[in-house]
Amino acid sequence: MTQRIAIIGGTGLTQLSGPTIQDQVWLDTPLGRPSAPIVVGEWEGQTVYFLARHGHPHAIPPHKINYRANLLALQQMDVDAIIAVNAVGGIHDDMGSGVLVVPKQIIDYTSGREATFFDGEYQPLEHIDLTHPYDEGVRQRLVHAAQDCDIPVCDFGVYAATQGPRLETIAEIVRLERDGCDLVGMTGMPEAALARELGIPYASLCLVVNPAAGKSDGLITMEEITAVLNDGMGQVRDLLAATLRHW
Ligand code: HPA
Repeated sequence: MTQRIAIIGGTGLTQLSGPTIQDQVWLDTPLGRPSAPIVVGEWEGQTVYFLARHGHPHAIPPHKINYRANLLALQQMDVDAIIAVNAVGGIHDDMGSGVLVVPKQIIDYTSGREATFFDGEYQPLEHIDLTHPYDEGVRQRLVHAAQDCDIPVCDFGVYAATQGPRLETIAEIVRLERDGCDLVGMTGMPEAALARELGIPYASLCLVVNPAAGKSDGLITMEEITAVLNDGMGQVRDLLAATLRHW
């Protein structure tokens, strides 16, 4: 049966070239407008709902994204699952530039973001379970699709969600590593928690676009990140297509 799959595109993925586009929907939600219109299309037998997290063109910084509106808009589209694409810095030795990762856990270091629907205003207080922040079923679909088409992925990893928009200091990365983090990005939270609050199965596909601060000899440059993004997004698209094909 055709599934309704949302893809939230991050840095480097503000448009999807795969789907046959059928519609573009600007939704309003009780908590504001999402980052961009949702692009609806058919791709590899599924109905795909693509949302550019940072807007299109890429303009909204990580701490100013209305994550709640984004998730509510996808809920309004009645999606069955969400695949989030995130550009990240690599901390673990296996996570060099260009590596794809399907992380298993998250530590949230963000602050001051609207991070829940259950704030006592929009919805009454409720404490949801987030033991396994990513849906294992969606994770496994990504990992198996990667195996089927020989795309290497790391099937593990703890994602550190930092506030940004600046990158980290060496000491901050040393601390994150000590905490058990393997990769670092700015948009993984509160997105994952909000998806869980709405009961929508959610997993993340990360592309490592730079070694985290202190993990290489030099400084981190936007040129380096852009070059890796340009190279790596092709593989991200191939893996998304394979995942949808086998869904
Ligand atoms: N740190 C935080 N977020 C990031 C990085 C990083 O090194 N690279 C891409 N997003």
